[in-house]
Amino acid sequence: MRLSENEIINFKNHVYEFLQLEQVHDMKKYIQHGKTTTFTHCMVVAYYSYCITLRLPMALDTKSVARGAFLHDFYLYDWHIPDKSHKLHGFVHPGFALKNAKKYFMLNSLEEDIIEKHMWPLTIYKYPKSKESLIVCLVDKFCSLAETLYIPILPKDFKRLNQLSSPTKITN
Ligand SMILES: [Fe+2]
Ligand SMILES: [Fe+2]
Repeated sequence: MRLSENEIINFKNHVYEFLQLEQVHDMKKYIQHGKTTTFTHCMVVAYYSYCITLRLPMALDTKSVARGAFLHDFYLYDWHIPDKSHKLHGFVHPGFALKNAKKYFMLNSLEEDIIEKHMWPLTIYKYPKSKESLIVCLVDKFCSLAETLYIPILPKDFKRLNQLSSPTKITN
């Protein structure tokens, strides 16, 4: 499963403002699972979530999926280092990610829901309220498991994302 050239450009445009912020790149300092940084994890979850929503035969907010998924783990600490501030990391980090995301960016309600609900069903009552949130929630589980087991899941065209240095106006 991979994005076409135009889809990659659109994806990059959707998350372009995030890539301008130093704090977003700080996610590169932290390991998420295995040897995968939080930045790469977020990028991969956003890539596959965006790809799936584009392919499904129903009307979905693909832009919000890319944006929400990209910031879903924007909590900015190493969860492997014990600290009382994130003792219950699995339960609390979606809230930290959402707080950081709202501090720097204007998000719509769907993007907020994607970030806040991505750990369901662990967060029992905070369940996805849209198809888009559920897709990101499931893709996150799949990617997290693969990364933990060191199963390579980086898209073949993943490097292409980093080669696009500026927004380009292309729509499908
Ligand atoms: Fe997470
Ligand atoms: Fe995640």
